Amino acid sequence: MTAIKCIGILTSGGDAPGMNAAIRAVTRSAIYNGIAVKGIMRGYKGLVFDEIVDFRSQSVSNIIQLGGTILKTARCKEFTTPEGRKKAYENMQAAGIDALVVIGGDGSLTGAGVFASEYDVPIVGLPGTIDNDLGGTDSTIGYDTALNTIVDAVDKLRDTASSHERLFFVEVMGHTAGYLALNSALASGCEAAIIPEMETEVDQLAELINNGFRKSKNSAIVIVAENPQTGGATGLAERVKKEFPQYDARVTILGHIQRGGSPTAFDRILASRMGEGAIEALMEGQRNVMIGIEHGKIVYVPFSKAVKHHKEINRSKLELVKILSI
Ligand code: F6P
Repeated sequence: MTAIKCIGILTSGGDAPGMNAAIRAVTRSAIYNGIAVKGIMRGYKGLVFDEIVDFRSQSVSNIIQLGGTILKTARCKEFTTPEGRKKAYENMQAAGIDALVVIGGDGSLTGAGVFASEYDVPIVGLPGTIDNDLGGTDSTIGYDTALNTIVDAVDKLRDTASSHERLFFVEVMGHTAGYLALNSALASGCEAAIIPEMETEVDQLAELINNGFRKSKNSAIVIVAENPQTGGATGLAERVKKEFPQYDARVTILGHIQRGGSPTAFDRILASRMGEGAIEALMEGQRNVMIGIEHGKIVYVPFSKAVKHHKEINRSKLELVKILSI
């Protein structure tokens, strides 16, 4: 095992609150252990197009509280080609980088796995995505902040929904996963959560809403996970409206606001622990693993497991949303 002298760090894919806290933790843990750090701009793009800058401890001052990523991020087409990855490797070598820390979601960690299978580069990943859709970790960096942003928005929508006695369909992000939808529905006392992991019977949903209105409710909020196949909140609202034209229904798509904002204390602590974990892992000779935290402990998760084996959705929570909304 050769000692690592210099690491490169990049953020890739959709930004997530807490990425800056992770950049800070990786940089300072590396420097603390005598390892030099280079910041790679715009994700894999910076490797392919040689946008690499020296990082010092001061480069990451005053960023723990900031959303977004000071390294910028991108979804890089060039890195999906063998020619692009060759250029990336050559630029890495020329910059003296002998290991990489990649902070991103499943696309970014899949890219890291492909790169590591072609070139002899130790890579450690950190789960940075609001979607929480990576296996081997209880939470991803950014998920908690996004969840709180959604809950805050739904609390506000409830004021107008109840004043106008309306039915709201609120679309949230999640890529193909329903964690944000399910847990925000539970945390904001919604009438239902529609998630890609479970087929939705429009009849049953309409019946549930109808029952609520019949009994005592004068408004209702349904959280819908984005889903291009079903048309998300817009598609669902149209189907329900056909059956129940008597309801004054509205659709709100929260969109990219869910990715912004100052990270919660939970995400900052998660990112700080995982960032330090990445440097520990590299010093131990680990490669091609994502740092996860399960039951409070740092774990090393092979990229293939992190990207392919999503955590199970807790189905009893769906039932709980229903029970608590009677
Ligand atoms: O992966 C994070 C995420 O915000 C997903 O929830 C969403 O589907 C996607 O990124 C949106 O990507 P873009 O910013 O490229 O539109």
